[in-house]
Amino acid sequence: MSIIHLHNKSFEPYLPEALIQEKVKELALQLDQDYADKRPLFVAILNGSFMFAADLFKYLTIEAEICFIKLASYKGTKSTGKVITAIGLDAEIHDRHVIILEDIIDTGKTMHEFLPQLINQQPLSLKVAILLHKPEATEYNVPIDYCCFSIPNKFVLGYGLDYDGYGRNIKEIYQIIEEK
Ligand code: IMP
Ligand code: MG
Repeated sequence: MSIIHLHNKSFEPYLPEALIQEKVKELALQLDQDYADKRPLFVAILNGSFMFAADLFKYLTIEAEICFIKLASYKGTKSTGKVITAIGLDAEIHDRHVIILEDIIDTGKTMHEFLPQLINQQPLSLKVAILLHKPEATEYNVPIDYCCFSIPNKFVLGYGLDYDGYGRNIKEIYQIIEEK
């Protein structure tokens, strides 16, 4: 592991692959316990969560379903501001135990706007499981039920997370080197 240069930025190794796998495995064990016999439905949010969701799902041993959605935000009216819509949400949410899988909660705005849309469909329960949380950056109140890592407010990439489209295929998580 060494410094990575992408576009005009530099990134240094931050969370090694083995540690990420250990935490994701721990989360799977916890979910195995919490959702035994509940046949939960995982809703993974693309693109960022694809690697996290795939690894987590491999470690799970309970009966569970997974679907992948994309969140698109478009300009609503002046009063509604930006509106978030879920693309590809064809699974029945009603009366299911639902767990959202998201790569990172930064300001929390995305989740804050998306969660009410799922709650509207009256799931039996709704929880949020994330890989990374930046508590110092979070401005919106979002319930975080499961979290692998709390990290400082610095840009990260790798393990599904990108910088301007690149870096998603890196197995570790790298952190930006801030210029002094
Ligand atoms: P939020 O709405 O501010 O919580 O932003 C959430 C989304 O921003 C995440 O799903 C990521 O796609 C993206 N994001 C936030 N912080 C980072 C980061 O450090 N690296 C890569 N993507 C990030
Ligand atoms: Mg994302």
